[in-house]
Amino acid sequence: MVREIVRFGSKVLRRTCDPVDHVDPEIRGLLQDLFDTLEEADGVGLAAPQIGVSRRVLIIDISSQEPSIPAVGLINPRITRSSGMAIGEEGCLSIPELYGDVGRFTEIEVETTDVAGETYRFEAQGVYARVLQHEIDHLDGKLFIDRISRLKRSRYVLKRKKQLAAEREETG
Ligand code: NI
Repeated sequence: MVREIVRFGSKVLRRTCDPVDHVDPEIRGLLQDLFDTLEEADGVGLAAPQIGVSRRVLIIDISSQEPSIPAVGLINPRITRSSGMAIGEEGCLSIPELYGDVGRFTEIEVETTDVAGETYRFEAQGVYARVLQHEIDHLDGKLFIDRISRLKRSRYVLKRKKQLAAEREETG
Protein backbone atom coordinates (compact mmCIF):
# COMPACT_ATOMS: atom_id res chain seq x y z
CA MET A 1 0.00 0.00 0.00
CA VAL A 2 1.28 3.47 -0.87
CA ARG A 3 1.73 5.45 2.35
CA GLU A 4 2.13 9.16 2.90
CA ILE A 5 5.76 10.26 3.12
CA VAL A 6 6.56 12.12 6.34
CA ARG A 7 8.15 15.51 5.78
CA PHE A 8 11.00 17.40 7.45
CA GLY A 9 9.79 18.92 10.73
CA SER A 10 8.01 15.75 11.85
CA LYS A 11 9.30 14.25 15.13
CA VAL A 12 9.29 10.64 13.90
CA LEU A 13 12.19 11.49 11.56
CA ARG A 14 14.32 12.43 14.61
CA ARG A 15 13.69 9.33 16.70
CA THR A 16 16.13 6.42 17.05
CA CYS A 17 14.19 3.52 15.54
CA ASP A 18 13.52 0.29 17.45
CA PRO A 19 15.21 -2.91 16.28
CA VAL A 20 13.15 -5.76 14.84
CA ASP A 21 13.17 -8.95 16.96
CA HIS A 22 11.17 -11.18 14.64
CA VAL A 23 10.53 -10.90 10.93
CA ASP A 24 6.78 -11.44 11.09
CA PRO A 25 3.88 -10.60 8.74
CA GLU A 26 3.78 -7.05 10.15
CA ILE A 27 7.41 -6.47 9.11
CA ARG A 28 6.83 -8.06 5.70
CA GLY A 29 3.81 -5.76 5.26
CA LEU A 30 5.96 -2.78 6.23
CA LEU A 31 8.53 -3.75 3.58
CA GLN A 32 5.79 -4.06 0.96
CA ASP A 33 4.43 -0.61 1.89
CA LEU A 34 7.94 0.84 1.60
CA PHE A 35 8.38 -0.67 -1.88
CA ASP A 36 4.94 0.56 -3.03
CA THR A 37 5.60 4.05 -1.66
CA LEU A 38 9.11 4.29 -3.15
CA GLU A 39 7.89 3.17 -6.55
CA GLU A 40 5.22 5.86 -6.62
CA ALA A 41 7.64 8.52 -5.33
CA ASP A 42 10.32 7.49 -7.84
CA GLY A 43 13.20 7.52 -5.34
CA VAL A 44 16.28 5.34 -4.72
CA GLY A 45 15.70 4.48 -1.06
CA LEU A 46 13.17 4.77 1.75
CA ALA A 47 13.39 4.12 5.48
CA ALA A 48 10.48 3.10 7.76
CA PRO A 49 10.39 6.39 9.74
CA GLN A 50 9.71 8.16 6.43
CA ILE A 51 6.28 6.51 6.44
CA GLY A 52 5.87 7.13 10.16
CA VAL A 53 7.07 3.75 11.49
CA SER A 54 9.93 3.91 14.00
CA ARG A 55 11.51 0.51 13.20
CA ARG A 56 14.95 -0.40 11.82
CA VAL A 57 13.73 -1.31 8.34
CA LEU A 58 14.66 0.23 4.98
CA ILE A 59 14.67 -0.49 1.29
CA ILE A 60 17.04 0.48 -1.51
CA ASP A 61 16.32 0.45 -5.24
CA ILE A 62 19.04 1.99 -7.37
CA SER A 63 18.24 -0.22 -10.38
CA SER A 64 17.50 2.88 -12.48
CA GLN A 65 21.19 3.86 -12.11
CA GLU A 66 22.80 0.47 -11.48
CA PRO A 67 20.74 -2.25 -13.22
CA SER A 68 23.03 -5.01 -11.89
CA ILE A 69 22.06 -4.23 -8.28
CA PRO A 70 18.62 -5.61 -7.41
CA ALA A 71 16.22 -3.79 -5.10
CA VAL A 72 16.64 -4.96 -1.52
CA GLY A 73 14.86 -4.74 1.84
CA LEU A 74 17.09 -4.56 4.93
CA ILE A 75 16.14 -5.24 8.55
CA ASN A 76 18.38 -4.02 11.40
CA PRO A 77 21.18 -3.03 9.01
CA ARG A 78 24.44 -1.73 10.45
CA ILE A 79 27.77 -0.72 8.99
CA THR A 80 30.51 -3.11 10.11
CA ARG A 81 33.40 -1.70 8.06
CA SER A 82 34.03 1.48 6.11
CA SER A 83 36.78 3.15 4.09
CA GLY A 84 37.41 6.04 1.71
CA MET A 85 35.53 9.31 1.55
CA ALA A 86 33.84 11.19 -1.29
CA ILE A 87 31.58 14.21 -1.62
CA GLY A 88 28.39 13.73 -3.60
CA GLU A 89 25.01 15.36 -4.02
CA GLU A 90 22.05 13.99 -2.09
CA GLY A 91 18.36 14.66 -1.76
CA CYS A 92 15.65 13.08 0.37
CA LEU A 93 11.96 12.34 -0.23
CA SER A 94 11.25 13.77 3.23
CA ILE A 95 13.08 17.03 2.44
CA PRO A 96 11.59 18.17 -0.88
CA GLU A 97 13.43 20.67 -3.09
CA LEU A 98 16.71 20.46 -1.17
CA TYR A 99 19.91 19.02 -2.61
CA GLY A 100 23.33 19.29 -1.06
CA ASP A 101 26.84 17.88 -1.04
CA VAL A 102 27.53 15.28 1.62
CA GLY A 103 30.73 13.41 2.47
CA ARG A 104 30.26 9.63 2.71
CA PHE A 105 32.43 6.52 2.88
CA THR A 106 33.09 5.14 -0.60
CA GLU A 107 33.17 1.49 0.52
CA ILE A 108 31.22 -0.13 3.32
CA GLU A 109 30.37 -3.55 4.65
CA VAL A 110 26.85 -3.96 6.02
CA GLU A 111 25.45 -6.64 8.29
CA THR A 112 21.70 -7.07 7.95
CA THR A 113 18.77 -9.44 8.31
CA ASP A 114 16.71 -10.28 5.24
CA VAL A 115 12.98 -10.85 4.82
CA ALA A 116 13.46 -14.58 5.57
CA GLY A 117 15.05 -13.71 8.93
CA GLU A 118 18.58 -14.67 7.84
CA THR A 119 21.50 -12.45 8.86
CA TYR A 120 24.27 -11.89 6.30
CA ARG A 121 26.95 -9.39 5.32
CA PHE A 122 27.59 -7.68 2.00
CA GLU A 123 29.85 -5.01 0.58
CA ALA A 124 28.81 -1.88 -1.30
CA GLN A 125 30.67 0.82 -3.20
CA GLY A 126 29.95 4.17 -4.82
CA VAL A 127 26.32 5.18 -5.27
CA TYR A 128 25.10 2.02 -3.53
CA ALA A 129 27.28 2.74 -0.48
CA ARG A 130 26.09 6.38 -0.43
CA VAL A 131 22.39 5.51 -0.55
CA LEU A 132 22.86 2.86 2.16
CA GLN A 133 24.57 5.37 4.47
CA HIS A 134 21.80 7.92 3.85
CA GLU A 135 19.05 5.39 4.65
CA ILE A 136 20.82 3.89 7.69
CA ASP A 137 21.17 7.47 9.02
CA HIS A 138 17.35 7.70 8.94
CA LEU A 139 17.15 4.78 11.42
CA ASP A 140 19.18 6.87 13.90
CA GLY A 141 17.09 10.01 13.43
CA LYS A 142 19.76 11.64 11.27
CA LEU A 143 19.02 13.51 8.05
CA PHE A 144 21.32 14.57 5.22
CA ILE A 145 20.43 18.20 5.99
CA ASP A 146 22.50 17.78 9.21
CA ARG A 147 25.54 17.07 7.04
CA ILE A 148 25.35 19.95 4.53
CA SER A 149 26.65 23.51 4.87
CA ARG A 150 25.22 25.54 7.73
CA LEU A 151 24.12 28.39 5.44
CA LYS A 152 22.20 26.09 3.13
CA ARG A 153 20.61 24.35 6.10
CA SER A 154 19.44 27.53 7.84
CA ARG A 155 17.99 28.89 4.57
CA TYR A 156 15.98 25.72 4.08
CA VAL A 157 14.75 25.59 7.69
CA LEU A 158 13.51 29.18 7.38
CA LYS A 159 11.73 28.43 4.10
CA ARG A 160 10.15 25.31 5.58
CA LYS A 161 8.92 27.21 8.66
CA LYS A 162 7.19 29.71 6.40
CA GLN A 163 5.60 26.88 4.38
CA LEU A 164 4.29 25.19 7.53
CA ALA A 165 2.89 28.48 8.85
CA ALA A 166 1.12 29.05 5.50
CA GLU A 167 -0.30 25.49 5.57
CA ARG A 168 -1.60 26.05 9.10
CA GLU A 169 -3.33 29.23 8.00
CA GLU A 170 -4.98 27.44 5.07
CA THR A 171 -6.33 24.62 7.22
CA GLY A 172 -7.30 27.05 10.00
NI1 NI B 1 16.23 10.40 3.04
